[in-house]
Amino acid sequence: MLNIKEKREYGRRRQQCMAAIGPESVALVFATSEKRRNADVDYLFRPNSDFVYLTGFHEPDALLVLAPGHASHEETLFVLPRDIAAEQWNGRRLGADRVKEMLGIESAFTVEEIRELLPNLLDGRDILHVVEDSETEPQVDVWIGATKAAGLRPPQDRASLADTLHELRLIKSEAEIERMQKAARISAAAHQRAMRFCRPGISELDLESELQHEFAMQGARFTAYPSIVASGTNACIMHYIQNDATIHDGDLVLIDAGCEYQYYASDITRTFPANGCFTSPQRDIYDLVLSAQLAAIEQVKTGHAFTDPHTTSTQILAEGLIDLGVLKGSIDEILENDLAKPFTVHRCSHFLGLDVHDVGKREIDGEDRTLEAGMVLTVEPGLYFGNAESMPDLDPTWHNMGIRIEDDVVVTESGNLVLSADVPKSASDIEALMAG
Ligand code: GLY
Ligand code: MN
Ligand code: MN
Repeated sequence: MLNIKEKREYGRRRQQCMAAIGPESVALVFATSEKRRNADVDYLFRPNSDFVYLTGFHEPDALLVLAPGHASHEETLFVLPRDIAAEQWNGRRLGADRVKEMLGIESAFTVEEIRELLPNLLDGRDILHVVEDSETEPQVDVWIGATKAAGLRPPQDRASLADTLHELRLIKSEAEIERMQKAARISAAAHQRAMRFCRPGISELDLESELQHEFAMQGARFTAYPSIVASGTNACIMHYIQNDATIHDGDLVLIDAGCEYQYYASDITRTFPANGCFTSPQRDIYDLVLSAQLAAIEQVKTGHAFTDPHTTSTQILAEGLIDLGVLKGSIDEILENDLAKPFTVHRCSHFLGLDVHDVGKREIDGEDRTLEAGMVLTVEPGLYFGNAESMPDLDPTWHNMGIRIEDDVVVTESGNLVLSADVPKSASDIEALMAG
């Protein structure tokens, strides 16, 4: 059951979406279906983020129809019908009668009524807005055909609902920031817990289970993405999720993990020494990545470009690699030819929200997007030094280290707010936490 404030918030989002698509349009938004994992076991269901954003409703197979200006059915939700036998096996359903009251939505019917009622909602509208999705596309075609067959006039044109809805999702409301702050706080506690628990001889999976336990204990059942717990050279694999190696004395451990709290993602990375003390070369690289990250966070401000944090961090990392003797040549030559790329590998930022790599255009008409208050992005520079096999020309001093530091940052009117600030990140603060 949504409370009054939540009902108003979701209602406001639907109104904003309808204002954006205009009265000649109609929009379809799918919750999507459960997915099979194996045999008769499904993955835990998580509705599509666009659908969640507009409804706050958690059941599969539902469909939201927005028909701006419609006399009686501007917003219609089709949901699975009540079914006592099915509910005894698979859990409760709200059903069409209760869903109206529970979500504060104008009209609700069962999905069994779509064939009969949807043609009237599509009739006479010029443009159909959907987010492109090959899974739902055939269904949309069937409904358009059924509308024609009923002697009605379905929309002739299609538009991408992403162009409007994802622009709304990009700017977070106060209520969204609150949830994201909570997600980041829970994840920060989990990172601290893993740092405290770590010692040589345990496995990466031991640390993953520490994270998972903290997430769940604080009300976050899902992770926003599979946790990366990577020791030693595993940290040089960007999407390392095997998490089954033994952690050795002298390794660095990179943890990139964030819970999803009430549908909102967090995405935090910290890198720390397995035994609690950085070696001198580890510390050199760590301090370099940290200086790049702190300078990049300074770039997260209204009026700055989305790529400013990346540009700043790349420059600092490249200069540092020259100072350490890893790269040779002038800074201009290195930046111009992207010569630091084998060590920096990925970009510095992505938007964050209901999805970990959240929606929102990073460029508009080929131009870098300007940051605005309410956008949330990660700042996550890294340096990766593989092993003797992958980087034979590198001084062995640096081999087998992957270091990334990642925070979640909101653009505010006056600067920025780091949502994930609770996890220590200076080398000395990390060592102090691990010693305690
Ligand atoms: N964990 C995914 C990312 O950092 O983008
Ligand atoms: Mn991450
Ligand atoms: Mn990230």
